[in-house]
Amino acid sequence: MPLGNTFPLNTRLVVVMVGLPARGKTYTARKLARYLSWLGYRAHVFNVGNHRRRISGSQVPHSFFDPDNSDGASARRLAAESALEELHMWMEGGGQIGIYDATNSTTARRLWVRQHCERAGMEVLFIEVICNDPSIIEGNIRETKLTSPDYVDANPEAAVADFRARIAHYDQAYEPIIDDRLHYIKIIDLGRQLIINRIEGFLTGRIVQFVANLHTTPRPIWLTRHGQSEANVVGRIGEDTNLSPAGVRFSRNLTRFLNDRVGDSISIWTSTLKRTIQTGQALGRPTSALKLLDEIDAGVCDGMTYAEIQRTMPEDYAARTEDKLRYRYPRGESYEDVIRRLDPVLLELERQRGPILVIAHQAVLRTLYAYFTDHPREECPHLHIPLHTVIELTPKAYGTAERQFRLGPGIG
Ligand code: F6P
Repeated sequence: MPLGNTFPLNTRLVVVMVGLPARGKTYTARKLARYLSWLGYRAHVFNVGNHRRRISGSQVPHSFFDPDNSDGASARRLAAESALEELHMWMEGGGQIGIYDATNSTTARRLWVRQHCERAGMEVLFIEVICNDPSIIEGNIRETKLTSPDYVDANPEAAVADFRARIAHYDQAYEPIIDDRLHYIKIIDLGRQLIINRIEGFLTGRIVQFVANLHTTPRPIWLTRHGQSEANVVGRIGEDTNLSPAGVRFSRNLTRFLNDRVGDSISIWTSTLKRTIQTGQALGRPTSALKLLDEIDAGVCDGMTYAEIQRTMPEDYAARTEDKLRYRYPRGESYEDVIRRLDPVLLELERQRGPILVIAHQAVLRTLYAYFTDHPREECPHLHIPLHTVIELTPKAYGTAERQFRLGPGIG
């Protein structure tokens, strides 16, 4: 991917996770990598645990993590070096944001990581994940650790006990970040409190805003295109036409779908185009119309069919076929532009804790769907988002659960 797509252009940042086990570091690291990749950065998570499993085997007893166990300490040091080396090589190969996922729970370990990165000309940002809420820790242990390769085939109660003993070893040696010369973000109890220190510039500002909105409260995010429009019937792109009779029928089906599932507490967002507003109106509930959700701007091609574009603008047609992500319609937008435009919408979707319905358009929903389902940006313009289908996404600690509901003929 050409570097010119991201800002700042010469980004070389290492994000170093810090915190005790089961605090949500890996969750935060993966979400952040996904968000930054979606925005167009080359971002990747390097997990020290994977290196530890490769070097020392996956099922080591908790005593391996005892700070007084010198064999364990040197094996863990080896794993840390190996993961940092992998990160370093990846950055040398053109990586932009390497996320170093480990406990990094002592001042000495953080100094070592920082010196290593700074010597290689990479900036370092620490993200310390602190969690004092026993119910969140308990949830993390049960939901994520028991499914970790460390405890394959283990008896669940024995695994929980072992993991608690492991946490206690880390707790013994844990030193929170106190050095105010460092660039850091402390996330306390899943965003209940955020402490930021020496955060400057565009990218780290985006990172702060993103992590501030993360939480793990399960809630459905329903994505649907508007009902079929008059332009859809004749295959013209863009425009601002009314719903067709089939589109009106879909909006009624959508009303039943929602009434079967939620009471009053739901947010409904539409674009400012008639086809989404009319679909939303049928629901008989309050809706908000957001310009940010308008369909990709087809510029001079608005109102044309694909066949007309191919006939009258063959070079543009070929250029779009060749690179649909980056092709920008003359006086219009590219998918990359749409991704940038939707950044604030994505943050709001992450922030919401209750059910939400987004009634929007094909390109816009491809873009949001690609983020939640972790599809690479290159695939985003080709994802299948049919008409008259509700996509239910439920973000979870690891990945997003998905279901689709057909509420009429699935056209397009
Ligand atoms: O055809 C419906 C539509 O929403 C158009 O308004 C829009 O230009 C198009 O889909 C986006 O899809 P694609 O990027 O595949 O052309």
